[in-house]
Parts: sequence; structure tokens; C-alpha cells
Amino acid sequence: MSAGKEVEVLDFLGIPLWEHRGDGRVPETSGRSQDRAETPLDPGVPPPVTELGWEDLARRVAGCELCGLCRTRQQTVFGAGSRPADWMFIGEAPGADEDREGQPFVGRAGQLLTSMIEAMGLERPKVYIANVLKCRPPKNRDPEPGEIASCRPFLERQVELVAPRILVALGRIAAQSLLGTEQPISRLRGTVHTLGGKIPVIVTYHPAYLLRNPVAKREVWRDLCLALDQAGS
Ligand code: URA
Repeated sequence: MSAGKEVEVLDFLGIPLWEHRGDGRVPETSGRSQDRAETPLDPGVPPPVTELGWEDLARRVAGCELCGLCRTRQQTVFGAGSRPADWMFIGEAPGADEDREGQPFVGRAGQLLTSMIEAMGLERPKVYIANVLKCRPPKNRDPEPGEIASCRPFLERQVELVAPRILVALGRIAAQSLLGTEQPISRLRGTVHTLGGKIPVIVTYHPAYLLRNPVAKREVWRDLCLALDQAGS
């Protein structure tokens, strides 16, 4: 392991070194080649989400009123990062900071996620980050099954467009909804799952959980090493 990488890993495991580098914003790379104009044959019938390119998908999410969260959100949080990307990290739902800024993982949990990504030798702007829900649940309550179901096509389309080599599910909600299971996270960690029989999925704890339970960082590091092994294979 190079000295630089070692510092990042120690940084992640050692807790006090987390200093926020940069302004936390994730530049969007252009995915224009994948954009398609939202011009349905029948103007009364919008095209299905499965046919949307990046720009139209983002517009569809921004105007979404499929569940009650549209009444309490400040704005939708679409996702951020490189498009396409080899690595895709999927969280649960925006919190207060994300709801305010319109970007995923910009609060304290987001800073820890950045540490995790850097400890892996990756760069945050070069991965793609999205959430199961695009709107903040009030008071950060758990997402409801109906909300997850309404948002699911958006995430599925993001995964298709990003075409990652590997997915990392952050926390129980992301893992269970991606994998379509109710198994506890303790059972889901430590093995390589697949999405659609193709994309490997690694499950780990949510960074917000790590903020409350820093000792779990060692387990997370094991999960991330499994992901690195899998991506390298
Ligand atoms: N937690 C999440 O799951 N996603 C965010 O974007 C922020 C916090």
C-alpha cells in the first residue's frame, strides 16, 4: 500500500483526521451522448422512465409528485458524480443538508462517505452517488415501502445510465431495496450479491451509523476491501 493510500485508510479508521477537503460539491460530467429529447410520439403520454436520458430523467425527478414527500421537500436530490462511472454508491434518502443543497451526501455522513471513498483509493468526483429516495422524509424517518416503490424506476434508470462495474449499498434500506429482500444487514454484509444477475453489489453500514458507532469502521473497511477485490477481479 502506498504512503498516500495508507494515510487515507488511517484517516478513515482513525476518526480525528477528517478534515473536509474541498467544498463537497461534486462536479457533474456530461452524459450528453446519452441524453434524448423528451419528445413522445403522443404529446399527451410522457415516455417511460426506462427511455429517458440524463437531462430528461433529472427533469422528471425534479417535477415528481408520485408520493407525499413532494409536499414536504425543499427540492429533490437527484444524484451526483461521474456519468458513466465504475463505482456507484447508493444511500437511503436525503437529509436536511441535502434537502437544502440539492446534492447527495453533503452533511456529516457525506464527509465520512468521502473519507471512505478516498480510503479506497478512489476520488469522489469519479464515482456516482445516488439515493433510494430522491426526497427527504420528514424528520429523517425511514422511507415507506410506497415511497421506495415510487422512486425505484428513477434509481434503476440511473444505474442503467451509469453502468457501474460495482455497486456499494450504504445501509439497510439501500441494501434491502436494491436486492429486494427483507434480510437484516448483518446477513447481507460480507457476500457479493448481484443486481439483475450482472452487477456485483456489496453491502456495508451507512456512514450515519458509523458516526454513531465509530468502532464499526473496521467492519466497514472489510466490506470496502471486499468491494475492491471484487472490482479488481
Ligand atoms: N444519508 C443518505 O442516505 N443520503 C444522503 O444523501 C445523505 C444522508
